[in-house]
Amino acid sequence: MDTSISRLIAAEAKRQSEVLEMIPSENYASENVRAAVGSVFMNKYAEGQATKRYYQGNSVVDELELLCKSRALKLFGLLEAEWGVNVQALSGSPANLAIIAALLEPGEKILSMYLPDGGHLSHGWQLPDKKVTLVSKIWDITFYHVDKHTRLFDYDVIEAQAREVKPKLLISGGTAYPREIDHQRMANIAHSVGAYYLADVSHEAGLIAGGANASPFLYADVVMMTTHKTLRGPRGALIFSKKELSTSIDQSVFPSIQGGPHEHTIAGIAVALEEARSDAFKAYAHQVVTNAQTLANHFVSAGLDVVTGGTDKHLVLIDLRSINASAWVVAWALEYANIIVNRNTVPFDTGSSIYPSGIRLGTPAITTRGMKEEEMKNIAVWIMDVIHLVKDIQLPEEKVARIAFITKTKKEFAQHHELAAIAGRVKALCTKFPVL
Ligand SMILES: Cc1ncc(COP(=O)(O)O)c(C=O)c1O
Repeated sequence: MDTSISRLIAAEAKRQSEVLEMIPSENYASENVRAAVGSVFMNKYAEGQATKRYYQGNSVVDELELLCKSRALKLFGLLEAEWGVNVQALSGSPANLAIIAALLEPGEKILSMYLPDGGHLSHGWQLPDKKVTLVSKIWDITFYHVDKHTRLFDYDVIEAQAREVKPKLLISGGTAYPREIDHQRMANIAHSVGAYYLADVSHEAGLIAGGANASPFLYADVVMMTTHKTLRGPRGALIFSKKELSTSIDQSVFPSIQGGPHEHTIAGIAVALEEARSDAFKAYAHQVVTNAQTLANHFVSAGLDVVTGGTDKHLVLIDLRSINASAWVVAWALEYANIIVNRNTVPFDTGSSIYPSGIRLGTPAITTRGMKEEEMKNIAVWIMDVIHLVKDIQLPEEKVARIAFITKTKKEFAQHHELAAIAGRVKALCTKFPVL
């Protein structure tokens, strides 16, 4: 027994059970998923695809991977004759890299969602003066944006942009866009200019599996999803692709980008995929959305600027500029009240990625604990209470003053009686909804 690590595991388990985990990309994987990830499959090297390995001793692993693939296709109602699925990508970002490398020659064009409007780094994020990601160093990236007034995507504008840019790949998929994407329209836009359409549904995977969000599979050429968010599996990714693209995507994952797949993770993904077929999971997916909408409605009624006025899915994005509150201050105050959210960029943000103007909250993890509308109402009240307590505390503009301010403010929050009182109420609620 490694006592140092055991202590940390116990401390993290305690923390996860005593707080409201409201980061939209997080969830609680089941004990069965965790057991599979901690299994002896971690000992095995298995480069290559099932039945075509570069190592001996893979008969059981082959069975595992084939089972995982068939469960993945089954969950989303896909025919093996039409769709391939790669279960080996180590996570969402390498999965996107593998897809792009398989479909495009270096230097070809990609049209993808702008990061501050809710896109993801792995879709080729770059600044005007810096190629931040490997994807942006290799390929030619253009971004599409939300509309300034509605903060929604205007598909006519994206279509006009696609005609001008003529990308080889159109990517949708976001981390903070609270509305459903029109996959049919996006696929039509892509195909009308001869591009592939990649739907990155990392955030919505479980909602799509449970029927709470629309499926992209009728329209997209490639669908990528991480397995650890709403899908409630271990950290990993699935790449679904039309049959004619599957071999090049498989080869892009291995040997182009990765080495041996993490078979223990694949075992955990297979367990999560089976769990997601249950009626209980379907009810869960719908409750995730109902809970997020309940929170959003409460915040709108309380006068906050909820981006797009609500949500279709598991996340709510709040622009704090309308009440002149600092997202950094609010996120840290919430943490001291045992409520864990992200500070996040919002459309047309005037801040930076470290000090953005919004907070992003999600319901996947708290819904896994069994919380419903009644609890959402209490949680929304506590969040509003925290915002009111700290909204006049302003982050200094100047860098040195800011560092001193951060240390001082965290100390003050740690001794803040009202934040501590809310933390106590949160803890009591968490006790009623244990993490299983
Ligand atoms: C839309 C989207 N794509 C890709 C990723 C990358 O996944 P990972 O963190 O597993 O690399 C994320 C993760 O947040 C995401 O939200």
